[in-house]
Amino acid sequence: MKIFLAPMEGLTDFYMRDVLTRMGRYDACVTEFIRVTDRLHPARLFYNACPELRTHGKTAAGTPVHVQLLGSEPAALAANAARAARLGAPVIDLNFGCPAKTVNKHRGGAVLLDEPETVYAIVAAVRRAVPANIPVSAKMRLGMRDRSRMLENAQAIEAAGASTLVVHARTKEDSYRPPAHWDALAEIRAAVTLPLMANGEIWTVEDARRCREISRCEDIMIGRGAVTRPDLVGAIQGNASALSWPAMVTAQLEFLAGMGALHSHAAESGAGELAPGAPRWTESGAVGRYKQWLAMLIRGFPEAAPVFAQVKRMRALADVRAVLRASAGPDQALRGS
Ligand SMILES: Cc1cc2nc3c(=O)[nH]c(=O)nc-3n(C[C@H](O)[C@H](O)[C@H](O)COP(=O)(O)O)c2cc1C
Repeated sequence: MKIFLAPMEGLTDFYMRDVLTRMGRYDACVTEFIRVTDRLHPARLFYNACPELRTHGKTAAGTPVHVQLLGSEPAALAANAARAARLGAPVIDLNFGCPAKTVNKHRGGAVLLDEPETVYAIVAAVRRAVPANIPVSAKMRLGMRDRSRMLENAQAIEAAGASTLVVHARTKEDSYRPPAHWDALAEIRAAVTLPLMANGEIWTVEDARRCREISRCEDIMIGRGAVTRPDLVGAIQGNASALSWPAMVTAQLEFLAGMGALHSHAAESGAGELAPGAPRWTESGAVGRYKQWLAMLIRGFPEAAPVFAQVKRMRALADVRAVLRASAGPDQALRGS
């Protein structure tokens, strides 16, 4: 079984990919989408979205990072994919699932599922543009409003030369409302032969088991569940014990140190060790990012709720760190003082 960490724009950036792939063993992770209109992005943009390009396309833990592109112009996507591949992307992934209004308005993401011929043209153009040894994968939803073109889209993606297809088992209309329709994936499984990866609503080991059984997919991709319980991937693989809150606090402090290092002179060199060219957060930006993760951790760890209540209005990393340390008990609090 392969397990991928899902791309989540605004959440699974370089720092989150770093921390999650060190806490659990993923077969790959995927960048947040890079939007492509009609032009060729400069190399700098790819390095910003995927600083791991400077470290052989892998996170510090050695997990490959696939570069995801989103757009509707086959030629522009092909040119950008070729550049990403040249810069070291191990896999190019194409987004046909984004439900965001502004993205869809510009003919990007899930809206293309109403045009299987465009989906085909995009995958085929990108496949032609990147070297044969770089796989091209795609990620789609079941459709825009319904599943009526689901098989057509999956077959178009396969015929155009994609080597893996990830399906988030909901339509755009379903947004993120549970349940995920894992049964639909079994229909796709029967209609294509390329490796198919199931995605959507995997929060527990039992969800993973049921998803694989119902979808008939060996492989899974985990999004929000991976962020709320960083130990979920290990539990699914059957090789990890549950993470305690104090251990979780240590991981959060490391995450904060990674981001915080970028605006603090003393730690600047530490950030350089992570990956040269990693995006630079302001202090309030780093705190904001962290709060997003903390809000999601509440679902996985009840201990996160009182921490969130306390840090909600804080802006300084030092204050956030102190609250976090105190929540782990006297040992952590002492270490930080
Ligand atoms: C905040 C957020 C941002 C997302 N951004 C992306 C993205 O950039 N590219 C993409 O293909 N999917 C994106 N997704 C969809 C996820 O990759 C995944 O398909 C979805 O969350 C369902 O999986 P889950 O139930 O395990 O979270 C995003 C989802 C969330 C919640």
